[in-house]
Amino acid sequence: MPVIINVNGRITGEAEAAVSPLDHGFLYGEGVYEVVRTYGRSPFLFDRHMERLRGSAGRIAMALPFDHGEFERCVRETCDAFWAQPDASDEVYIRILVTRGVGDISYNPAACHSPTVVIIVKPLQLPPPEVYEAGVRVAIAGIIRNHPGSVSPRIKSNNLLNNALAAQEAYRLGAFEAIMRNYRNEISEGSISNVFVVKDGAVTTPPLDAGLLAGITRAFVLEVAPAAGVTIRENVLQDADLFGADECFLTSSTQEIIPVVRVDDATIGNGRPGPVTKRLHAEYRRRVAELTRGWGAAAAGTVLE
Ligand code: PDD
Repeated sequence: MPVIINVNGRITGEAEAAVSPLDHGFLYGEGVYEVVRTYGRSPFLFDRHMERLRGSAGRIAMALPFDHGEFERCVRETCDAFWAQPDASDEVYIRILVTRGVGDISYNPAACHSPTVVIIVKPLQLPPPEVYEAGVRVAIAGIIRNHPGSVSPRIKSNNLLNNALAAQEAYRLGAFEAIMRNYRNEISEGSISNVFVVKDGAVTTPPLDAGLLAGITRAFVLEVAPAAGVTIRENVLQDADLFGADECFLTSSTQEIIPVVRVDDATIGNGRPGPVTKRLHAEYRRRVAELTRGWGAAAAGTVLE
């Protein structure tokens, strides 16, 4: 089923979608993005993603060309074009990118007159059920997460070389995800996810000043934890906390909560997804179903199971 792409308001298939090679997003990776998924054909926590997009843009001194309502309308139109295709999947992956725009080859932002807005909508591909049932292996990457005083990990930046190189290290080792350390050698986050560990029933995730993206799923998990009877603290984590954990899990918008059962060649806990991770994930899904009740054609519950 073809991907649908909106480039500055022009909605087409992939073959017809075009961005100039002189776009500073292409030339320099100068841009910001968000990844949102739908439940029941509605983008989940869309407002929070738009707020983070605005924050990321501000951190690279770029004004977003649209207000919240306009972004919502553009995303809706692009999704509707996707859903107008025969046999379109109900649930979609939405990637929203805003770059500095087209301009002369110069770092001067004045070279670019207007940002480029791209919205990519494609079928949502969830990890297979065994990922949730059996858990995954992660590898600690040799490459460190960007120093917050360099390109801050708080920016959800199109310049993803740091993340891509870490992920590629993990893939070469057959691992599902890379875990990155910061410049202080503390655990920061995954290449596309945030990380949590469980020890003696208590959950810990690195604080934002460990140099990581303020994940929307991370925040949502912190919010739903009390209802699951789980306490989560933000605290510095070292390698030993990961290797000595009873349980470990990753969070991201497209993958929810993924149990981790191995780090490098070591087994975490008993090598099976643990009870705290399962309880949190069940509560997460319960809250998603609650928040999306009445939206769209598909019931969120059926998509989630
Ligand atoms: N990645 N950390 C990094 C470096 C990320 O790229 C992401 C998201 C996360 C989790 O954030 P959230 O919960 O807001 O999705 C953490 C998206 C899914 C991606 O790039 O595809």
